[in-house]
Amino acid sequence: MQVIIQPTTMDAVNLVACIISERLRQKPHLVLGLATGRTMVPLYQRLIEMHQKEDLDFSLAVTFNLDEYIGIPPEHPGSYHYFMYNTFFRHINIDLRNTHIPNGMAEDIAKECKEYEEKIKDFGGIDLQLLSIGESGHIGFNEPLSSMFSRTREKALSPKTIEQNKHLFSNPDEMPKRAITMGVGTILEAHECLVLVTGKHKSKILARAVEGPFTAMISATALQLHPNCTFVADEDAGSELEQREYYQWIFENEPEWEIYRNKVKV
Ligand code: GLP
Repeated sequence: MQVIIQPTTMDAVNLVACIISERLRQKPHLVLGLATGRTMVPLYQRLIEMHQKEDLDFSLAVTFNLDEYIGIPPEHPGSYHYFMYNTFFRHINIDLRNTHIPNGMAEDIAKECKEYEEKIKDFGGIDLQLLSIGESGHIGFNEPLSSMFSRTREKALSPKTIEQNKHLFSNPDEMPKRAITMGVGTILEAHECLVLVTGKHKSKILARAVEGPFTAMISATALQLHPNCTFVADEDAGSELEQREYYQWIFENEPEWEIYRNKVKV
């Protein structure tokens, strides 16, 4: 695992966007795992800008989203279908047939989850999985006590998650209590994980996720097991990390980060 702390939110966003763009240029038919939430909004805006001004091409890319609420239709403004289409997909040249989001309206949710896993396998697995962490320490909607081997499945949302996300609904009472989410095991099978964490309110959970003990109470700690995982945080989110100086040294000195050092402030 690597941790990179950038001075501002936009610097962190820009670094993550540069990494995604680099991977996409190396492999135009990249299988990209996508996330939702407030953290992702400036990132998608930056990628749209790269598409418009720097010809970043999504025409062959394939995407799989982490999760979707159960029981609200795709056209509902609180759904992740709606979020992805309006925040990202409609502004880039992606083929919508290559985008995948779990169907939270499926009659048979267990079947939908099984088929979602199979589809990921059909595309050869996820090359790059983009993530953030919820305040409960979840990745996707893998709430506390999620098995570290879990696969895509239905999950009841924790009171903390409901509290955190209900304000994104014009009527907070409409916030669903259940979701379909890729499992921790599904996420760990991605070839690479890239985690963007921004804001002071995430500093405690980020420190626990990265430097704390491995525990099913915080599914993000599972990423400590991943052989190719990078956390990118802004100064606020990274403020409670103990080994900040070491992480900074790695970013400033290791050859693998050289191409990015020129693109962002160090
Ligand atoms: C939701 C999503 C997570 C996301 C989290 C963080 O709960 N299921 O994948 O990481 O929100 O949200 P935010 O970026 O709004 O803090």
